[in-house]
Amino acid sequence: MKSSILFAALSSIASVTAYPQYLETRQAWTPQEWIAPGDGDSRGPCPGLNTLANHGYLPRNGKGINLSKLADAMLAGFNIARSDAVILYSQAIRTSPNYPLASSFDLSDLGTHGILEHDISLSRSDAYFADPNPFNATVWAETASHFTTPMITVEQVAKARMGRLATSKATNPEHELSALADGFSWGECASFFEIMADGTTGTVNKTFIEYWFRNERMPTEIGWKRRSTTMPSSERLKYTRLLEEAAGVSGILRRDAYGRPLFH
Ligand code: HEM
Ligand SMILES: *[C@@H]1O[C@H](CO)[C@@H](O)[C@H](O)[C@H]1NC(C)=O
Ligand SMILES: *[C@@H]1O[C@H](CO)[C@@H](O)[C@H](O)[C@H]1NC(C)=O
Ligand SMILES: *[C@@H]1O[C@H](CO)[C@@H](O)[C@H](O)[C@H]1NC(C)=O
Repeated sequence: MKSSILFAALSSIASVTAYPQYLETRQAWTPQEWIAPGDGDSRGPCPGLNTLANHGYLPRNGKGINLSKLADAMLAGFNIARSDAVILYSQAIRTSPNYPLASSFDLSDLGTHGILEHDISLSRSDAYFADPNPFNATVWAETASHFTTPMITVEQVAKARMGRLATSKATNPEHELSALADGFSWGECASFFEIMADGTTGTVNKTFIEYWFRNERMPTEIGWKRRSTTMPSSERLKYTRLLEEAAGVSGILRRDAYGRPLFH
């Protein structure tokens, strides 16, 4: 009797030691607590970084984000490789009022129109019409009109983005899309498939996207899981390419999804 209990105990220890990854995948990942931003907290036009601040992966006040804080947050919160944070940080820092002497940025800095903040956003107004920082339900309704199935596809996101471009051109007398913004905006679209899905399917659950954009919160309570593999920068470029192909604009772009010059 005793020895069989001992045997059972020993064999369960043995199986844990032999398959450490088994334990890890069985434990559901839960995010840090979500707290809505309060008065005085800095938030900007990026739903990804706003979400990381709302969960406390970035400073909850959204201020003083340096490279280590950004890279730690992107990895811990969304499982994005550090290399990705390094490239994006080099863009983000340009929006700081202290640039080129800055060593950190605040989330609201990202909203300065014409550096990174651009027209044709999926969920933000063009700056000509209204504040481009907060989620805008009117703009989002236009975007979401292209999401006609429960799983959003690359083709649908490409159409939504080209639709926003057409609307901006037709209605905004100050419409502008720099080469950087053109590439950068495709990178933003790519995050649907990489961060809200696991980067393997080219589709993403519409409910997760709606929940994320509207609440700037990880959709864990409705069944979303943080991707289990770390997203490499090559994947952002891959989805950017797929989106551009779906939109029929590949080969025209002068900047990549990180805003870096491309040479054709
Ligand atoms: C340092 C890292 C990052 C920087 C500097 C950055 C910057 C920005 C900026 C400036 C915008 C606004 C562009 C505009 O619409 O005018 C934006 C939008 C966006 N970002 Fe980020 N971002 C970063 C990381 C992330 C991450 C980790 C995610 C995904 C989890 C993400 C997802 C998005 C999406 C989906 C949009 C598009 C919003 C829209 O079009 O309505 N970003 N980002
Ligand atoms: C970022 O700031 C933290 C303290 O707030 C500091 O420990 C860390 O070294 C800084 N990282 C960089 C790259 O400056
Ligand atoms: C939302 O965006 C539309 C279109 O740009 C704009 O007319 C409207 O004023 C914005 N709404 C808010 C609340 O900012
Ligand atoms: C998407 O997620 C929602 C919320 O968990 C779920 O009810 C729905 O069945 C999912 N849709 C698909 C197509 O998997």
